[in-house]
Amino acid sequence: MQYLESDSVRPAADGRSVIIIDQTLLPQEIKYLSLSQPEEMFEAISSLRVRGAPAIGIFAGYALAVRARLLCGSVEKDSFFSALSQEADYLCSSRPTAVNLFHAAERILKAADGKSPEAAAAAAMNEAVLIHEQDIDICRRISEYGLTLIRDGATVLTHCNAGALATSRYGTGLGALLLGAERGMKLSAFVDETRPLLQGARLTAWELSRAGIDVTLICDNMAGLMMQQGRIDACFVGCDRVAANGDTANKIGTLSVAVLAKHFGVPFYVFCPSTTIDPECRTGADITIEQRSAEEITGLYFDRQIAPEGIRYENPAFDVTDHELITAIITENGIFRPPFCFE
Ligand code: MRU
Repeated sequence: MQYLESDSVRPAADGRSVIIIDQTLLPQEIKYLSLSQPEEMFEAISSLRVRGAPAIGIFAGYALAVRARLLCGSVEKDSFFSALSQEADYLCSSRPTAVNLFHAAERILKAADGKSPEAAAAAAMNEAVLIHEQDIDICRRISEYGLTLIRDGATVLTHCNAGALATSRYGTGLGALLLGAERGMKLSAFVDETRPLLQGARLTAWELSRAGIDVTLICDNMAGLMMQQGRIDACFVGCDRVAANGDTANKIGTLSVAVLAKHFGVPFYVFCPSTTIDPECRTGADITIEQRSAEEITGLYFDRQIAPEGIRYENPAFDVTDHELITAIITENGIFRPPFCFE
């Protein structure tokens, strides 16, 4: 993408660390981190330095490939695979909702299984590169499908961040906008700030404006008014997991946008790679929702305490949008409309 000098996640040239843009510092600072230790890789995911379901998957692939390379010299041959498996389990305990993390870890372990440490490390890196390359292709295909859903001059409302930072290149929920802008279409976006961690204000507003899209930032509680005034043609969001019946988990607040969209007759579209579909979850009730710390909501982006000390709180990081509220789910395989059945 023009507005990012490299993908938000990539391996170092020597394969001994994984490099990420620290998304917690954007948009004020573009800082790259080079990570090689299990604890710092875990922390990068849990602190949202690397975030967005597909980017977490790509990161997990490279992180485990790097660990496989580094374990080659530091553990006995016989314990190599169990050491790598333990590290995969540890990394997978960093966040529970995005299924891409678990898929990527599974793929790396499968690639490494039954091989000598050296061969396993090489196979793990090949698999990680494949996960990354597949995501680039998937995002591109999703974006092409997305573009068929809007006309030139359209205004889209989006929630959280589903662009290049959260994936690779075009993104999922933002892909159609980015591709459309590249083709000279005149597109506009309303961007929900996305409390509590402000992925919309910090990341989406930054990405879309750098790509030349006409962006208006709004607080989460303003989306209803914009729809009531007829200013939104469609809602585009990404997602972290899709259940077999089409219920989708995405950033907290997505459900409210979907309810509003239904009320005001605005189409509500969910974009994701097909690997985000988890048929083992029959409905959204089976999806584990991450609960995060008090500070994220009692303070303003960790900066200043705004709520009374010790106040009772709840901070679910995701919610589930009922399939009945979704106009279509778009993957690299096409545009799926109700009734959804992903078994
Ligand atoms: O907590 P986050 O920032 O990782 O949440 C991310 C989202 O909810 C995204 O919308 C989702 O992962 C799709 S990213 C293409």
